[in-house]
Formats: sequence, C-alpha cells, structure tokens
Amino acid sequence: MLNEKLHFYIEGLIAERNPLLMEMESYAKVHHVPIMELAGIETMLQLLRIHRSKKILEVGTAIGYSALRMAGALKGAHIVTIERDEERINAAQEFIHRSGFGEQITLIKGDALEVAAEVSQYAPFDAIFIDAAKGQYKKFFEIYADYLTEDGMIITDNVLFKGLVAESEIESKRIRNLVKKIDDFNRWLMTHPNYDSVILPVGDGVAISKRRGERK
Ligand SMILES: C[S@@+](CC[C@H](N)C(=O)[O-])C[C@H]1O[C@@H](n2cnc3c(N)ncnc32)[C@H](O)[C@@H]1O
Repeated sequence: MLNEKLHFYIEGLIAERNPLLMEMESYAKVHHVPIMELAGIETMLQLLRIHRSKKILEVGTAIGYSALRMAGALKGAHIVTIERDEERINAAQEFIHRSGFGEQITLIKGDALEVAAEVSQYAPFDAIFIDAAKGQYKKFFEIYADYLTEDGMIITDNVLFKGLVAESEIESKRIRNLVKKIDDFNRWLMTHPNYDSVILPVGDGVAISKRRGERK
C-alpha cells in the first residue's frame, strides 16, 4: 500500500464532497459503517466514467454512500444496489431520498445470495461493484457475472484487506480465515479464463476485472 504521507497527500487533493455526502461520511464514522475509502472510490468513479457505464449493480449498499457517489458521477446511470441489514437499508433510503437522486437508484432488500431472480429484471449490467461480505466474494462474482454485458467490468473492493493478504502470520483465527478466503479469491480471479484482472493498491485494494467478450 502507499505510505502514509502519500496517502494523505492524495486525499488532500480530492475535492470536498457536497454537504449531504460529508454528512454521510460522518454518519459512517460515528456508526461504524464501513464505506469505501476515498482514493478507492475516486478510482472506481473514474473507471466508470471512462467505461461510460450506464447500468451498474452494487452488492453491498450500506447507507448508500457509494451508490450516491456513482449516481452523481454518472449522469443518467441507473444503479441497482443490494443490502440485507435493516438499519442500513433505512438509513440508505433516507439519504437517497434527501439527495434527489432517488430515480437513479433501485435498492433491493435481502441477501445478495438469494435475490438474483429479482436483480435479473434489471440485467444486463455494464458494471458490477462487489463490496459486501468478504468471505463470499467468489459466490457474488459467480452469481452476478451472468448478468454482465459482453464488455462489462467487475470491480471488487477490499481485495488487499489492509495489507493482511501479504502477511504470513496473523494471530486471530477469524481474521486468518477471512484473509485466506480473500487470497483464494484473488488467485482464482487472476487466473480466470474469461476475465482480464488487475489489482490496484488504492484504498483497501481494488480489483478491476474486464470481461474478455467475443474475440473479433
Ligand atoms: C462495506 S459495506 C458497503 C459499503 C458501500 N458500498 C459504500 O462504499 O458506501 C458492506 C455492506 O454489505 C452488506 N452485506 C454483506 N453481505 C451481504 C449479503 N450477502 N447480502 C446483502 N448485503 C450484504 C453489509 O450489511 C454492509 O452494509
């Protein structure tokens, strides 16, 4: 990962967000809701702009922060986002309502492992953003990759998990197991025959996977 000085240098150059987004960032801090790190989200938004994604699926809404960032950055794009936690769903609905971007966002309530049929109504997606339970990344990827357009991309957050994927000794068994799952996912992803993937050491580690599509 970047050293701390550079990390703060880059964050310091990122423009202030609007008051509602700043309120959401504070809410996330106070209520211990994990939202995507600033440099990571800016990287993702830039890729989505370049890709001109119009329809995006997000796995893991939390309070709607990244969904709102995407809606704001991509004029006219539709974001379908899945969340299972009742309290976070309520907070997300409230923030989305206040933002004025409600028409661009569809929130699907439920476990992402169980709502594929509902999600399929909105398919195909130009981009899929996976940011939910880290131990299930491979399952999310496998379920929802079927709903990706031929030139679509999949963005997965937290693939470096605070740098722990490169540590050989981790005391906590729970964290060790989780790190193993992320490492397994990364190795699986990087050798996937249908995707070209790269891992960027920004934020908490962001994997960008581009579907190979039909070779012309
Ligand atoms: C890291 S947070 C999402 C942050 C959000 N993408 C952002 O950057 O603003 C992960 C969220 O995924 C939700 N989640 C985890 N596993 C899930 C699952 N299987 N189905 C639906 N939601 C899930 C959690 O409740 C949590 O709110």
